[in-house]
Amino acid sequence: MKNILITGGAGFIGSHVVRLFVNKYPESTIVNFDNLTYAGNLLNLTDIENKKNYHFVKGDIVDGEAVFALFEKYGFDQVVHLAAESHVDRSIANPMAFVHTNVIGTVNLLNAAKHFWKHGNNNRFYHISTDEVYGSLGEEGLFTEETPYDPRSPYSASKASSDHFVRAYHHTFGLPVVLSNCSNNYGANQFPEKLIPLFINNIIHKKPLPVYGKGENVRDWLYVIDHAEAIDLILRKGTTGETYNIGGHNEWKNIDLIRLLCTIMDEKLGRAPGTSEGLITYVKDRAGHDLRYAIDAGKVESELGWKPTVTFEEGLRKTADWYLSNAEWLRQVTSGDYLQYYRKQYEER
Ligand code: NAD
Ligand code: DAU
Repeated sequence: MKNILITGGAGFIGSHVVRLFVNKYPESTIVNFDNLTYAGNLLNLTDIENKKNYHFVKGDIVDGEAVFALFEKYGFDQVVHLAAESHVDRSIANPMAFVHTNVIGTVNLLNAAKHFWKHGNNNRFYHISTDEVYGSLGEEGLFTEETPYDPRSPYSASKASSDHFVRAYHHTFGLPVVLSNCSNNYGANQFPEKLIPLFINNIIHKKPLPVYGKGENVRDWLYVIDHAEAIDLILRKGTTGETYNIGGHNEWKNIDLIRLLCTIMDEKLGRAPGTSEGLITYVKDRAGHDLRYAIDAGKVESELGWKPTVTFEEGLRKTADWYLSNAEWLRQVTSGDYLQYYRKQYEER
């Protein structure tokens, strides 16, 4: 692997992928292209920022000219595309931002790859997508790579659209692509608007824990470092044109997960058992809230030998420890726009 573009590398999953690649491939040039939205943070990468094989370029994937200039300058062999608007609640408040970044931004990258690549064996365009494109499951069943698309939020509709464009560029223009659709990630560096880091932050500050609806929705949790390993494997060994589902075999009803998190946090903060559970507040449900997601990861396991390695309780403890020992990170990302956004969220509920 030579020159690799990673988009969205200052975000949650992207920063773990950048770190893995920079450390594992010292002979490759890793370029992190990110426009540092509220979710992108260079503090996530301070440990590798001075490595010789790492370059950060601030820029917007919606800006087609900037994307072409970037490809021209670095002559990428491969693209790992993670940049996106990623939060479902924000997509309900402002769908158009998701159309711009997730759809138009992805097509800009596809156009640049199509223009600059001769489709040699070294080229690969890898789109990181979500299990939400498959819609919502009932009590039974798992999403497979053959499950028909049925996106139900503006976020998942925009990701489904970008997946379709990636496959269309493969089918129509022969662009060498690969895709993966994964379940809910958790771990260090996740912006505290998503369930787990939001609740950790609120517990630390003894603020209410807003459980949507009855807390009965189910998500399938995947430790972010296991996900980064899967991405590395799929980029190197996945079959061109194929899709791989990635999940942690780890379904939790929200309320059960929240109770476990409360127990862990009470223990770590030296608070009496039950203190954090007392913060649970049931609030108005998310509009169009999907009931259950669960992944059949059989294909990536049997074809590429990937398996999740971190159990949920172990991962959740590590995650809590990371937030507790990174109070300054948490303080910085929860100042400014964050406060305005959350005030509005709470008022609306
Ligand atoms: P994130 O919101 O933490 O980070 C997104 C990154 O993209 C940020 O660094 C942001 O600055 C950057 N970005 C946003 N708009 C951009 C633009 N127009 N130009 C350049 N950079 C831009 O997201 P995440 O949770 O790390 O998710 C990464 C990818 O994985 C996304 O494509 C998301 O859809 C997908 N995904 C995430 C999860 C999850 O649980 N977090 C699960 C499945 C799939
Ligand atoms: O499934 C993969 C997807 O997982 C990714 O594609 C998305 O980028 C990522 O944000 C995540 O989407 P979810 O909507 O599942 O994640 P979120 O953390 O927002 O919510 C998880 C569950 O917790 C969901 O059922 C809604 C609920 N929830 C969430 C928040 C923020 C609450 O009950 N209260 C909350 O305050």
